[in-house]
Amino acid sequence: MTLHLTSITLTYPDGDRTLTALDAVDLGVGAGEFAAVTGPSGSGKSSLLAVAATLIAPASGRVAVAGREVSELGPAARARLRRDHIGIVFQQPNLLASLTALDQLAVMAHLAGRSPRRAAGRAGELLDAVGLTGQAHKRPHQLSGGERQRVNIARALMNEPEVLLVDEPTSALDHDRGARIVDLLGRLTREHGLATVMVTHDLAQLGAVDRVYSMADGRLTEGAATRAA
Ligand SMILES: Nc1ncnc2c1ncn2[C@@H]1O[C@H](COP(=O)(O)OP(=O)(O)OP(=O)(O)O)[C@@H](O)[C@H]1O
Ligand SMILES: [Mg+2]
Repeated sequence: MTLHLTSITLTYPDGDRTLTALDAVDLGVGAGEFAAVTGPSGSGKSSLLAVAATLIAPASGRVAVAGREVSELGPAARARLRRDHIGIVFQQPNLLASLTALDQLAVMAHLAGRSPRRAAGRAGELLDAVGLTGQAHKRPHQLSGGERQRVNIARALMNEPEVLLVDEPTSALDHDRGARIVDLLGRLTREHGLATVMVTHDLAQLGAVDRVYSMADGRLTEGAATRAA
């Protein structure tokens, strides 16, 4: 398993009590596997991604990414693991307003200390792969919502991650554009051998995924919920 969460419990302080956001969650996603997590608002989906992304440490349980046990790593090693092995796509494309699509990607390689020339080549290939050939020179305000989301996805793949975590990639898009983003994620998952977890409210877009899980009150079960919020 490229991503392996075992018996994860996550709590947040909530006044003088604690709120259990994740309750004994198990999830394994292998290379080339596209998993979707659905469930109502507040059920713990983003919390699950934050734990898998090593951004939040769980109260208990184990997280393993690309063969590394996260709890055994210090903060610097954890940041390197995130940078080199995990691609993260947040709901809102948090692109930098002043950078072209190509530079949004190139800056990721720069942060990882990689060669600028190879980075420009890879950035161009990834923009082609997400259907943005000829748009590499555009800044975010010159792109549509769907195009911005595709830049966001290409950027997450810049440092060749093994794990791709995607939070509600289609919520700002109409149905057809959303479906195209999900198809794109499925294709990239297979072509790059990624272990992909996508959180989505949209049950209509689960056709392209290999496995569906649902989250309710912090508990994860396999299978689609009958109703997502
Ligand atoms: N930083 C935090 N501090 C305290 N409580 C939090 C924090 N983040 C999330 N929560 C709570 O944890 C629960 C799970 O939140 P989470 O964001 O994971 O839900 P979600 O399933 O992603 O919801 P949505 O579909 O609305 O994005 C909610 O009850 C939320 O209020
Ligand atoms: Mg969320």
